[in-house]
Amino acid sequence: MDGSSGHGGRDGGRTGDMLLRNYKLGKRLGFGASATVKLAEHVLTGLKVAIKIINKHEIRKIKDMEEKVRREMKIAKLLVHPHIVRLYEVIETSTDIFLVLEYAESGELFDYIVYKNRLNENEARSLFQQIISGVEYCHRNMVVHRDLKPENLLLDSKYHVKIADFGFSNILRDGRFLKTSCGSPSYAAPEILFGKLYAGPEVDVWSCGVILYALLCGKLPFDEGNISDFYRKIKHGIYNLPMSLPPGARDLIRRILVVDPTRRMTIPQIRQHPWFKAHLPCYLTVPPLEANQLAKKIDEQILQVVINMGFDRNQLIQSLFNRVHNEATVAYYLLLDYQYRGSSGYLKAEFQASMESGINQMHQSEPIPRYMNYQGIGQIPQLPQERKWSLGLQFQANPREIMTDVLKALQELRVGWKRIGHYNMKCRWIPGIYGHNSHHLEDDDSNIMESDDAAMKASNVVKFEVQLYKTREEKNLLDLQRVQGPQFLFLDLCAAILAQLRVL
Ligand code: ADE
Repeated sequence: MDGSSGHGGRDGGRTGDMLLRNYKLGKRLGFGASATVKLAEHVLTGLKVAIKIINKHEIRKIKDMEEKVRREMKIAKLLVHPHIVRLYEVIETSTDIFLVLEYAESGELFDYIVYKNRLNENEARSLFQQIISGVEYCHRNMVVHRDLKPENLLLDSKYHVKIADFGFSNILRDGRFLKTSCGSPSYAAPEILFGKLYAGPEVDVWSCGVILYALLCGKLPFDEGNISDFYRKIKHGIYNLPMSLPPGARDLIRRILVVDPTRRMTIPQIRQHPWFKAHLPCYLTVPPLEANQLAKKIDEQILQVVINMGFDRNQLIQSLFNRVHNEATVAYYLLLDYQYRGSSGYLKAEFQASMESGINQMHQSEPIPRYMNYQGIGQIPQLPQERKWSLGLQFQANPREIMTDVLKALQELRVGWKRIGHYNMKCRWIPGIYGHNSHHLEDDDSNIMESDDAAMKASNVVKFEVQLYKTREEKNLLDLQRVQGPQFLFLDLCAAILAQLRVL
């Protein structure tokens, strides 16, 4: 196999065969007017995917639908984010289009809210943080979703959000305003419902506000009872905010559900809101790598597994670099996603974040999981077990002892710090210049960050954050994230910290 067989061509027979050869179709997961979604197994890896089957004849009956589907395909292929359903490949025959999607096994957020009635503050916040990070990523890539609602938010096996269904989405162009009315009225911003022009991102923000309300209250702020009343209430932003809601969440909803889009909170402002910031997981504090940067970071272990399946190494690397979707790259991405979904759900993103900050190299020598050792073509690997490793440094000691050791190491290395939480510090290191750390754990704050001019002007200053947090397995994980400064200096510093902590 050469891994270069192109998909998405119009040769019905060949691509149809490809589908049958590469996927075993299973039960139906859902269906709509022009599409059915089925569970399937990717034969080479044994991993599950969802396949959206769109009948070309049916979509041609609906005005502009074919264009919408093609737009969805184009948009979804661009987006690679831990909270967005991944599109692995598109297979087209003369009668159908098959979208091979990441499988979100826990179904729709809508059903989850109904099942739970309403979510508690922490769970609602955590889901909201994931939604906002996915939506923010779309906007950064000039994509507005325009149909955000709990039915389009899926949940994976760890109940993490996966934004789906980009059927109504659009690509933003500078200076252009959109007018199309789309989405479900209950979640649609007033400017959409009343046919006004809109720039884009603000309509997704409104929908996120409605979703946050639904998560916490188990009902919608604007309900379609009496139609004229419904539209009137949206037009004037009239809804009831229960007093039982946490005050921070009430404040946030009030600032998001603002009828005037120019006064509505933006995503950067939401990110600054104290309620949003509470318990924000580390991986959501930094933007993920862009898809084209990500394509250049190749996981050698997974590459090897795919090569063992019979694909050519050089062609596979080329395809990964060029972001070509073919049999080999699909297998690679499926395994990659599975690996980073592994032990604590959001590790894929944690991985990306630490790729940015450059400390994940420490984990490259981790033992290869069982399923990565198999050889041969056509053999279905045993389904991987949950990975036993995490990114960051894991410690058995109690958090206070760990922090004491970390602070001693920082002091030794003449790193300045400012504590911003019990287990979270902002740090700064200026090689050769600085170092009057007289700090110990009892100090609440540091003056070390408000420092002298010489230090501030230094070009090689390295700023980073230290965060200790608990994993789901009740272990303490130390994470160092570069905020600013030369990457290589940061790596040097990480190595020195590890040496001080006697990890190296
Ligand atoms: N229904 C629609 N898309 C799905 C997906 N990606 N995973 C699970 N169920 C779905």
